[in-house]
Amino acid sequence: MKNSIKKIAVLTSGGDAPGMNAAIRAVVRCCAYHNLECVGIFRGYEGLIEGDFKPLDARSVKNIINRGGTFLKSARSKEFRTKEGRKKAYDHLKNESIDALVTIGGDGTFKGAIVFNEEFDFPIIGLPGTIDNDINGTDFTIGYDTALNTVVEAIDKIRDTANSHNRLFLVEVMGRDAGDIALNAGIGAGAEEILIPEQNMGKERLLESLKRSKKSGKTSSIVVVSEGDQIGKNIMGLAEYIRENLEEYECKVTVLGHIQRGGAPSCYDRVLASRLGVGAIDALLRGERDVMIGINHNKVTSVPFSKTLEGKTKIDEELIRVADITSI
Ligand code: F6P
Repeated sequence: MKNSIKKIAVLTSGGDAPGMNAAIRAVVRCCAYHNLECVGIFRGYEGLIEGDFKPLDARSVKNIINRGGTFLKSARSKEFRTKEGRKKAYDHLKNESIDALVTIGGDGTFKGAIVFNEEFDFPIIGLPGTIDNDINGTDFTIGYDTALNTVVEAIDKIRDTANSHNRLFLVEVMGRDAGDIALNAGIGAGAEEILIPEQNMGKERLLESLKRSKKSGKTSSIVVVSEGDQIGKNIMGLAEYIRENLEEYECKVTVLGHIQRGGAPSCYDRVLASRLGVGAIDALLRGERDVMIGINHNKVTSVPFSKTLEGKTKIDEELIRVADITSI
């Protein structure tokens, strides 16, 4: 395997994340550095099925390290979930004489890669690209740090107006089934309470906590609600419940939504994406395949694909304790 890799394809799939462009750039430039051919595939697995390919050289990826989104575009492909779709994808890779594929995305992307690999034994390297930080085997995913900063900046602004009006704000953040964004941005923004799916605090306990903090002298409050939390799934209903049971506060709701997925990547995400992109090509040249390149204790590491989907990453109990103590 070691010297048989001559042509590599790269794609981005699933929800886009700031830093994906920096990762593509690193993959392309590391290919150029090693005199390997590199091909970009547009719209993730959709483009792979349709043969939407374009050769990329070192200059094709100029001026993108600072840009959010992904210039290769992304998609959540239904057709790639079918055997026929994956066969079409395989045929395109073979016709283009591509020896290996680098896929940048989240858990859905990795699931697709695992099935594809089982069926066609095609070398794939995955890079974790999602704002959710919910991939097992890497401390951080590309885009997560930028999303955290976006959320904190937004909540800082909400805090100003919450404070002026003595209001309570419920702020919904993304994370599908993972509370990482909510917990870390919540601590960083000084939230009163943080609702995450890993805890599912429940509305009664939330109400008790808000009453206690009101009694302790707080005049305004921010509650960060992860979209995956059981009561957070109906944030308007939660707001209604609070309005009915806590008249002292006027309760408002802000859903941050896709603002969290856009914007220029933070320096951390640019560096992480660059390290992982180079790590992907290094791994292929070492003869590795079917692994994700992640970051663990600040070291670039290879993690077998199967491990990346082994249960969700666990929420750090220490962070929960810090959130509880600092919001007193
Ligand atoms: O996985 C990233 C993510 O932004 C999740 O946090 C969110 O639940 C989902 O994607 C939204 O997906 P879409 O943009 O397809 O609605």
